[in-house]
Amino acid sequence: MSPALTTEKADLAGPAAPGAADSTGAVRIGHVHKSFGRPGAAQPVLDDINLEIKPGEFVCILGASGCGKSTLLNLIAGLDRPTGGTIEVPGSRPALMFQEHALFPWLTAGKNIELALRLRGVPRADRRPEAERLLELVRLKGAHGKRVHELSGGMRQRVAMARALAQDSSVLLMDEPFAALDAITRDVLHGELTRIWSETGVSVLFVTHNVREAVRLAERVVLLSSRPGRVVRDWSVDIPQPRRIEDAAVADLSIEITEELRGEIRRHGQQ
Ligand SMILES: Nc1ncnc2c1ncn2[C@@H]1O[C@H](COP(=O)(O)OP(=O)(O)OP(=O)(O)O)[C@@H](O)[C@H]1O
Ligand SMILES: [Mg+2]
Repeated sequence: MSPALTTEKADLAGPAAPGAADSTGAVRIGHVHKSFGRPGAAQPVLDDINLEIKPGEFVCILGASGCGKSTLLNLIAGLDRPTGGTIEVPGSRPALMFQEHALFPWLTAGKNIELALRLRGVPRADRRPEAERLLELVRLKGAHGKRVHELSGGMRQRVAMARALAQDSSVLLMDEPFAALDAITRDVLHGELTRIWSETGVSVLFVTHNVREAVRLAERVVLLSSRPGRVVRDWSVDIPQPRRIEDAAVADLSIEITEELRGEIRRHGQQ
């Protein structure tokens, strides 16, 4: 059974940052279909996806490899269009963070962030102090002048997180952002992300293969089936934050979700 502990997000929440989630911050996905390929030979990838992310909510999407998780994030980010259905993101364009940091190697950590601020229209004089503030938020105070190659993998992902936050979107889309990191660094970044989420009130939609990671982080875990991807279950995670990945309650719910995920993978004949 799922743990029945309850918590209020307000327990963790500090003051909301300017531009943080408000009534316009949600994502609404209605009857979304996505197929790839020529008409007549199109392969359905997503089928009748219905999902609502409330303002300030932290939702993890889980599913087997190839089930359409990245496709769904790309649709929400506006990088691709659904074949059918509607996607509403009433606030500003969502910020995206990928598994690979995608920083510009010829710019310093700080200048990578300042570029995002410039694209957002932040006046030149304000960019440096704002980049410094964001670096401090991801615990990289003093790293403004560091080149990307001088940073560790975990530090690069922090800079990428700061750059995503520099967009000041009310929705943050994360596609396996910590998958390439070692377990200890990932654990530290889970703590940082939870803290930043509670401090800024941003809505987070986080894709992962890792059930424990999903339960460690999210208020809701949504499981997608494969071929085509459909929402098969939606758990609410009523375990107080801050959680740890090794907490018994996190383990218990992870076991339950893993069983369902295994069932989905078996049903579709994958490894
Ligand atoms: N641009 C594209 N053209 C054709 N097929 C695509 C395209 N993008 C994705 N697909 C197909 O859609 C399916 C879902 O891909 P997607 O990348 O969304 O999966 P995923 O759940 O993110 O997988 P993973 O966990 O491995 O990252 C796959 O079968 C993939 O081959
Ligand atoms: Mg993917």
